[in-house]
Amino acid sequence: METFLIHGGRPLSGEVAVSGAKNAALKALAATLLTDKEVELRNIPDIADVRIMCDVIRTLGMTVTERGKVLRIRRTHEGKKEVPLSLGARLRTSSMVLGPLLARYGEAVIPNPGGCRIGARPIDRHILGLTKMGAAVRYDPHDGYFHAEASRLHGVRYRFDKNTHTGTETLLLAAVLAEGETVLENAAAEVEIDDLIAFLNHMGAKIRRTKTREIVIHGVPSLNGATHSIMSDRNEEVTFALAACVTGGDIVVRNSCARHLDVFTKLLGECGGKVERVGPETTRYAAGTGYRPSHITTAPYPGFMTDWQAPWAVLMTQAHGVSTIHETVFESRFSYVAELKKLGADISFFDPPVRDPERFYNFNWADRIQGYHQGIRISGPTRLHNGILEIQDLRAGATVVLAALAAEGESMVRGVEQIDRGYEHIEIRLRKLGAGITRRKEDV
Ligand code: EPZ
Repeated sequence: METFLIHGGRPLSGEVAVSGAKNAALKALAATLLTDKEVELRNIPDIADVRIMCDVIRTLGMTVTERGKVLRIRRTHEGKKEVPLSLGARLRTSSMVLGPLLARYGEAVIPNPGGCRIGARPIDRHILGLTKMGAAVRYDPHDGYFHAEASRLHGVRYRFDKNTHTGTETLLLAAVLAEGETVLENAAAEVEIDDLIAFLNHMGAKIRRTKTREIVIHGVPSLNGATHSIMSDRNEEVTFALAACVTGGDIVVRNSCARHLDVFTKLLGECGGKVERVGPETTRYAAGTGYRPSHITTAPYPGFMTDWQAPWAVLMTQAHGVSTIHETVFESRFSYVAELKKLGADISFFDPPVRDPERFYNFNWADRIQGYHQGIRISGPTRLHNGILEIQDLRAGATVVLAALAAEGESMVRGVEQIDRGYEHIEIRLRKLGAGITRRKEDV
């Protein structure tokens, strides 16, 4: 196990460039299965999840060659139509190959997807859409795999019961080669989906977002190769912005995608942080002299993203007053709270009153975990002290690093492999901003 040793209390300053978006790159890799021609993907982040996804598509017949942040991908051999459990169970997006494999070969076998332990994260909405397109999908509880087949996928008008980011992408990937027209209603609107749409259209797909939550796809016989540059990572930018604010720092972010962060930047400004768009892709984030509390409810795009609430909680430990966070997308996304309390944070759980939880929450209400809560109250300001911290999931991992950077004294953060899944060389980039952080191998 690897750990970070962090000397907190140092204000961050300087410049940092945001990497390519994990949640766009992984889907673009799945999309390469849809063509036999060569594809070039640029601005690929150097993160563990991308390396695992490259191994997944290699088992499915693709050759992937890497040169820096550029991947060249081409079908070169008859691959399997099955994702091995050793790979699939480590990656939520292993389910993203379902659509392309069914569209190209009419068969797919994938393990029940893994990923962050932030909830059950089933793919029932993905499967229902695929069956409406003509696929037969059965889950075998004995082997833990989904077995899918389809003679020919056909277009469908399909309305998602609730928002699903990767569910929308799964049906996009299935529909681009399907027979006829597919209309996705109540489709997710996260901008990473539009990055995937742009890439698929560069390959010759015919996809239009006709309304905010409606996407129309006209099936085509085949796709060409293309070159596509992955958009910047919104979650990474939010993490660095909050790192500056909680350490009393002042940083400039290059490759900024602040234009997609309106809800975040507006709230950060209202709470006392400084945000300055200094160029089309350059944004300055700086600490304020005192922070005001906030009351946020997470929501699918364009709302306050669920991925941002954990690092936001660190800022709210510094706010003068009581803040609340109501998590509505996942049923178990407060694993970081126990870690922040180790550093002295004053946080308590509560259950926000909700009239119809099944309709209100984005997760399936039946998946909730008895005894878990969807709300936290944070009282501040609190001077955080050092501690020994554990990481449970990717965004919680970034959160405890931010808290340790803000705390006085030396802290240890264990299980940093989780952070490596989604943040490129995070300690090197934080060190360049003046943070006292080093990576150690921990003797187990
Ligand atoms: C994607 O997860 C992102 N991951 C998440 O980022 C992000 O938090 C989330 O979208 C919301 O924007 C990737 O893109 C790889 P959902 P996804 O399908 O697609 C439930 C990160 O840190 N649901 O919109 O899994 C589901 O369990 C990650 O980078 C069903 O019940 O999210 C969740 O509670 C974390 N059945 C809610 O709906 C389904 O068929 C939203 O899920 C699908 C989803």
